[in-house]
Amino acid sequence: MNQDTSSPFSPSLQAIGLVRSFGDGAHRRVALHEVGLDLFPGQLALLMGPSGSGKSTLLAVLSGLLKPDAGKVISQDKHGPVDIWSLSDSKREQFRLRNSGFVFQGYNLFPALTALQQLEIVLKWGQGIGGRTARKAASEMLDRLGLSGQCHKKPTQLSGGEKQRVAIGRALVKKPQFIFADEPTSALDWENGKHVVELLRDAAHNQGATIFVVSHDPRMLPYVDVAYHLEDGRLEETDRSVPALGSTGGVL
Ligand SMILES: Nc1ncnc2c1ncn2[C@@H]1O[C@H](COP(=O)(O)OP(=O)(O)O)[C@@H](O)[C@H]1O
Ligand SMILES: [Mg+2]
Repeated sequence: MNQDTSSPFSPSLQAIGLVRSFGDGAHRRVALHEVGLDLFPGQLALLMGPSGSGKSTLLAVLSGLLKPDAGKVISQDKHGPVDIWSLSDSKREQFRLRNSGFVFQGYNLFPALTALQQLEIVLKWGQGIGGRTARKAASEMLDRLGLSGQCHKKPTQLSGGEKQRVAIGRALVKKPQFIFADEPTSALDWENGKHVVELLRDAAHNQGATIFVVSHDPRMLPYVDVAYHLEDGRLEETDRSVPALGSTGGVL
């Protein structure tokens, strides 16, 4: 009964028998087939797989955005395990706001706000952090992302790669327990992509965050702690000691 739920050896996020399908009858498409997964505090996990294999669906179900047809997602917050799909919508929303950061494929930035404001607002609204402290933390994070010259620009004045880095900064700045990132480096050249992966790795290893990244990019493999492959909604752990044919095998 008195289990230590904060032990680094117990998962911070557990998926059990997740099933999710879309459509009905002849159009029914099973996107997740009984997916099970354990993620741990301080772990940077990568999910790869072909387009349409169910990666975004799995990320959405794990993060509390899309309800599974069957199965459970158990997340640890500082009070203990939470079965997130048994919570009410508003409790689940609160859980996400308090504990999770997101990077979406389409960036989801507010059109009217500057880069600095995109980050400040997360700290002020989500975390109740005061104006001056929020501004300092937001500005430091943009510096780390090489965006100090873009602080006062709105999304229409930023390139795709800059928007993507602002979106990553917005997820990292509140130092959440969980970060869910869907193709976070897709608009970046590898120099910037590598930097983003290093920031995610730092958040995992130095802040104890659990980070789940969906990507097509095999160059990420050497930087992550664990890699999974999803094919037709079925999940397998990737053995990273065997280089993929035709790649450098991550030897840099
Ligand atoms: N909202 C939706 N409505 C209908 N089908 C969907 C929806 N979202 C995903 N799918 C289907 O589920 C499968 C997995 O999609 P997705 O999770 O987006 O894959 P990935 O992110 O790996 O490209 C695909 O066949 C896709 O067409
Ligand atoms: Mg996707």
